[in-house]
Amino acid sequence: MLHPVVLCGGSGTRLFPLSRRSHPKQLLSLMGENSLFQDAVARVTDSSLFTAPLVICNEEYRFTIAEQLQEMGVKAQEIVLEPEGRNTAPAIALAASMIADKDPDACMLILPSDHVIRDVKAFHEAIKDAETIARKAKALVTFGVRPTSPETGYGYIEMGEALPIAGGYHIDRFREKPDIKTAEDYLASGRFLWNSGMFLFPVSRILEDFALYQSDILDAVKASLRKSQKDLDFTRLDAESFAKAPSISIDYAIMEPAHNRAVVPVNIGWSDVGSWSSLWAISDHDDNGNVLMGDVVAEDSSNCLIRSENGLVATLGVKDLTIINTSDVTLVVNQDQSQNVGTLVKKMIKEG
Ligand code: GDD
Ligand code: MG
Repeated sequence: MLHPVVLCGGSGTRLFPLSRRSHPKQLLSLMGENSLFQDAVARVTDSSLFTAPLVICNEEYRFTIAEQLQEMGVKAQEIVLEPEGRNTAPAIALAASMIADKDPDACMLILPSDHVIRDVKAFHEAIKDAETIARKAKALVTFGVRPTSPETGYGYIEMGEALPIAGGYHIDRFREKPDIKTAEDYLASGRFLWNSGMFLFPVSRILEDFALYQSDILDAVKASLRKSQKDLDFTRLDAESFAKAPSISIDYAIMEPAHNRAVVPVNIGWSDVGSWSSLWAISDHDDNGNVLMGDVVAEDSSNCLIRSENGLVATLGVKDLTIINTSDVTLVVNQDQSQNVGTLVKKMIKEG
């Protein structure tokens, strides 16, 4: 059985004003009723394939997480609370140690909670392939998405030789968040895939790599776990020990330096919903190309994403706009400036 590990930390700023520190992107309902976190959990509830999920989250979100799980009728294997975010490498080392204690031969599936996957059936097929590769080759396995632009916010995976197993490939190089020039070269070469941020690891193998490349992380998380405390349904890590874990992502910490890595190319309708325009792109549109949520009237308007949480929003004769209206903020932004909302937020924080 495969152990799903759902990560829920970091807060995006590009989906301001809906995403805030207190309401990170993954706990919001962006499409439909469920939050992205709930969608991530729902994709791994098939008990013929998966154990109950292990959720690792910031302690700040504990009640929202518990409530959202309860709403779905899902009982987590554990909900582990991080006293502070130390990025994904410590969270993953922690999950691997906990799973290995119970089941040393297990594989784990790392799932970010801030993605959309539209084809769950294809996703499950890819997971089965990835598990076969991880078990047979004792490899660290990633899920690669065909790139469509020189995005600098992603990891890039250079595909090597095809593996004789389950449609996978060797990874020749893993490069996290390259600069724009490098990203353009990678895209043009046709040999690279985007890293989707999901991973499938044999727990024994990932723990060996942590011991090799990041032993400080392993020491810190093991100490924080030894001194952890049960609090209701939560496991609270010891803050002092956990703070000693270097803050670094799994991509830089392990995926870049490691050997014996593999990729399963996927076509599963993946998007990391990094901006309002990417949410618009993956949503169902009306005949005018609009995505309208809440109390909205859009006359003679096209290709807009409009969401109102606070009264009526009416537009006339506009196009390519994102308009988001909450109880305290109204954001109006041209679709092609969506990527820059994060910069706007940082500027407001500095000036505010
Ligand atoms: N528990 C926990 N603790 N989770 C965390 C923490 C933390 O300190 N930091 C981040 N996460 C969670 C986020 O909530 C998200 O679900 C996931 O881990 C990935 O973190 P991001 O901060 O969103 O990473 P990224 O988007 O910059 O980069 C990663 O994802 C890209 C695809 O979206 C990398 O894996 C890239 O290589 C990849 O292309
Ligand atoms: Mg992300």
